[in-house]
Amino acid sequence: MNDLDSEKISANLRKKGMEPVDDPDLADVVILNTCSVREKAVQKVYARLGEIKKSKNKRPELIVAVVGCMAQLEPDKIFKKAPFVNIIAGPQKGHRMDELITQTRLSNSPVVELRSDDDPNALEYGDFQRTCMWRASVTISEGCNRQCTFCVVPLTRGKERNRDSASIIREIESLVSRGCVEIMLLGQTVNSYRDPYSDQVDFAALLKRIAEIKDLKRIRFMAPHPAYFSNELLDIMVSCPSICNHIHLPVQSGSDKILRAMRRGYTRAQYMELIGKIRRAERRIAISTDIIVGFPGESEKDFEDTLSLIDEVKYDNAFSFKYSPRPNTVASALNDEIPDEEKGRRLEILQQRQKVIQYHKNAAYLGQKVEVLVEGKARSRVQLSGRTTDNKIVNFDGPLSLVGNFAWVQITGFSSNSLRGTLIAHDQNQKAE
Ligand code: 5AD
Repeated sequence: MNDLDSEKISANLRKKGMEPVDDPDLADVVILNTCSVREKAVQKVYARLGEIKKSKNKRPELIVAVVGCMAQLEPDKIFKKAPFVNIIAGPQKGHRMDELITQTRLSNSPVVELRSDDDPNALEYGDFQRTCMWRASVTISEGCNRQCTFCVVPLTRGKERNRDSASIIREIESLVSRGCVEIMLLGQTVNSYRDPYSDQVDFAALLKRIAEIKDLKRIRFMAPHPAYFSNELLDIMVSCPSICNHIHLPVQSGSDKILRAMRRGYTRAQYMELIGKIRRAERRIAISTDIIVGFPGESEKDFEDTLSLIDEVKYDNAFSFKYSPRPNTVASALNDEIPDEEKGRRLEILQQRQKVIQYHKNAAYLGQKVEVLVEGKARSRVQLSGRTTDNKIVNFDGPLSLVGNFAWVQITGFSSNSLRGTLIAHDQNQKAE
């Protein structure tokens, strides 16, 4: 969602004749689009502001903006630590970036624009120019009504607001008509979606409608909450081949005691029941997750429950984090008593365990032919990188002109994080820009 927000800011400024540059020293405006979900992300922003201060000292006319969730959360702290900042704006203000820049230039004083929950139109401000032609993220809802005790997002992105399904469909149809083949539907709890104008259209129904759009090859969504994962949703995933066979299903902990303290709204047994249903579905569906270690009160036994859960589920991928208290969350009032070193030890054990699971999972792809949507240059020596429908990264040799196209690749090697292979065939219809 942050990437999409950055894309909207960039589109707004390009429309006004501004151009992106790689080097902050060449820029007239520097915008930091921030995240506040974990403390580390916030620390990074203050470090970056320290660097930008040097440019600002050299060129006082440089406009510096801090936008997004952290700006929404702690505007006073930002001004205190970095008084040279010209603009502070919350999330969903990207379409007004040009006005905020003009305002601070004309008034020669700082501008603050925070998001408020009573702006019903914030999600519907029309089309914007995309930077990528073949893949796009589309927001279907924003904000979150859940009250997970560790999470700051309801305080930054606000209460859940859902977009009109007709407008979502129109946007996707328009993207597809211009060559888009993969859509990522976004929402903090994407599967709690309900059309504000028609109660009949829930997430499963919306997904079904989107899957009917001709020439749309791949549909992904991020991130569902286990509490809203209906049987209908699973049925629709099984019956629509264009919906990718991957589900990111954050569990956060394997201990019932910690799940309760986190107010996740499910027990381990209920989560495992859902995993069982997904595993028994007629289509093989990859599952990934998010896990927090070191939540207040997490004992060695609770941590072992998380380890046994990942052993049981055998996730295709897992993102794991050390707990950090976030301002004004319920958990921030609890004693964050587990030392950082101990959180680090647990994180490492967990990640090592998961790495072995992924290694074995990826080994099963050896010799298979997989369809890959080519995304760009690979980091390693092979040239291209793409993803399978089940979200495996595949690296292989091939011409860069294949970016944005589908290719068939025979898997010849693997690691715990990715697959390697050789190109067998590819689309004729090349879309790379
Ligand atoms: N500390 C650590 N990790 C967190 N996450 C959210 N809040 C916190 C926090 N306070 C993690 C969760 C979530 C992911 C996006 O970030 O695992 O799913």
